[in-house]
Amino acid sequence: MCASAGDSETTVAKPSASGLPLENRRSFLGALLGVGSVFVSALLSVPLIRFALFPLLRRTTELKSSSVGELREFSSLTAPAMRTIRIEQVDGWRRAISEKAVYVTKDSQGQLRVLTSVCPHLGCTVPWNMERNQFVCPCHGATFALDGTRVSGPSLRGMDTLETSVQDGQLQVRFQYFRQLVSDKEVIG
Ligand code: FES
Repeated sequence: MCASAGDSETTVAKPSASGLPLENRRSFLGALLGVGSVFVSALLSVPLIRFALFPLLRRTTELKSSSVGELREFSSLTAPAMRTIRIEQVDGWRRAISEKAVYVTKDSQGQLRVLTSVCPHLGCTVPWNMERNQFVCPCHGATFALDGTRVSGPSLRGMDTLETSVQDGQLQVRFQYFRQLVSDKEVIG
C-alpha cells in the first residue's frame, strides 16, 4: 500500500559532499576544535606555570664571594683583623643582603686564612681578645688560638675557615654556614 500525502514524514539526514551525514560531520569538527583548543591552551600555559613556580622550585642560590679587602692590607698581620662583608642570598622571590663579621688571620705556615666569627658551639659571635691573645667566646667560654684552632671550652672543633680566592689584588671570601655542636666541619648553607 502506498503512503498518502497526508502521512507523517520521516526526516532523513542529508549526506554531505564527503559522504558523512551533515550532523555527524558538525559534531566531529566541534570535537576536533575542542581538542585543539585544549592542546594549544596547555602548550601556552607551560611557560607561564614555569615562570610562576621557578623561584619555588629553584634551590636557594649559593652565596657569592665577597671582597674582604686588598691583599696587601694583610701582609704584615700580627693579630686577626676583623672585617665585615656583605653577602647576598636569593631564596625564591626573596632577596636578602646581610653583613657578616669574618677574621683574616694566618695559619702556622704564615698563610692567610679567613675565619667565620660564628662560634661552632652554639653560634655566638666570637671576638678576638687582645689581652689573652685568643678568641674567647662570650657565651660559654670556648677559646681558640690565633689561627682558629680549638684551645678549650665546650666547642667540639676549631673556628671554621672559609674558602678564599684573590681577584685583582682583592682577597675574596665565600661565606658559608656550618653545623654547630659537631666535631667535623659540615656545610649547611
Ligand atoms: S656559643 Fe660559643 S662557647 Fe657556646
